[in-house]
Amino acid sequence: MMLLLTMDAYWQVFGRFHPLLIHFPLALILVAACIEGTRYAIGRRDQPSPTAAICLWIGLVMGGLALWAGWVLADYTGEEGALVSLHRWTGVATISLLVLAAAALLMRQWKGRDWAAPHVGLTLLAAVTVAICGHFGGEMVWGENWIFGPLNVAPQQSKQVAEWSSVESILVDHCQKCHGPKRQKDGLQLVPWEKMFAGDSVDWVVVPGDAAASRMHTLITMPPESEDIMPPSDKGKPLSSEQVQLLVEWINAGAIGPGGQNPPASQSEPVS
Ligand code: HEC
Repeated sequence: MMLLLTMDAYWQVFGRFHPLLIHFPLALILVAACIEGTRYAIGRRDQPSPTAAICLWIGLVMGGLALWAGWVLADYTGEEGALVSLHRWTGVATISLLVLAAAALLMRQWKGRDWAAPHVGLTLLAAVTVAICGHFGGEMVWGENWIFGPLNVAPQQSKQVAEWSSVESILVDHCQKCHGPKRQKDGLQLVPWEKMFAGDSVDWVVVPGDAAASRMHTLITMPPESEDIMPPSDKGKPLSSEQVQLLVEWINAGAIGPGGQNPPASQSEPVS
């Protein structure tokens, strides 16, 4: 079995170590930057910290391996795009800065405090680029805007549940004149919502959950020349099909009220 494996497979496995490898250099570089940054700030500039130096060297070696593995991995997966490029090149920038930081470290160990500023500066810079690089890598895995995504209030266009507020504005515009608080033609009041479901449920013109059985639906969908159509043909234009559709959806969804409440339970058995 083993004999069938080509070099290719081994390379691919090496590439797949990329996600595992990156975490070492990432953490080590950040640790080195914290130590050296703090020491520089408090004035301990003569000699580099041995701990930070070890972190930097291991970070450089492991980071170089991670970069190499990532390159190989990208070749196999064929991934490309702006995000991959950003990740790749911030990775290259990180390793380049680490090489320079390591060189400055050697110079500092040899020549003393004159090299403290370049050493610390380059280490801090490498820490910033590795964080950016890691962020792009994270977006590749988790999706873009992964961190701040939950703060985004996306307009909810996909979820179109007909709400009372939009139903109400149709009724106010087209029906309120005759079925509102001022006048109730035929004893019918449609707004506010509570009035629609006042009285005996057999008289309701809206049957919650069943638009087809609702008298309101029957009357707004009559042929325009019909005598019974609502609004009356001589008193207003028929509702558009979008408006009818919205009313139908609202009724079929249970004719929910402004506070999300359901109409009161029917008091009498439906007449069938
Ligand atoms: C210009 C006045 C006017 C407007 C505007 C109007 N209606 Fe009416 N409506 C009436 C009259 C008058 C009646 C009684 C008709 C009849 O008995 O033939 C009525 C009856 C009704 C009925 C039957 C009531 C029942 O008890 O069976 C419903 C339902 C209705 N209207 C719904 C609406 C809706 C929905 C609108 C808006 C899209 C609307 N009306 C707009 C005047 C109006």
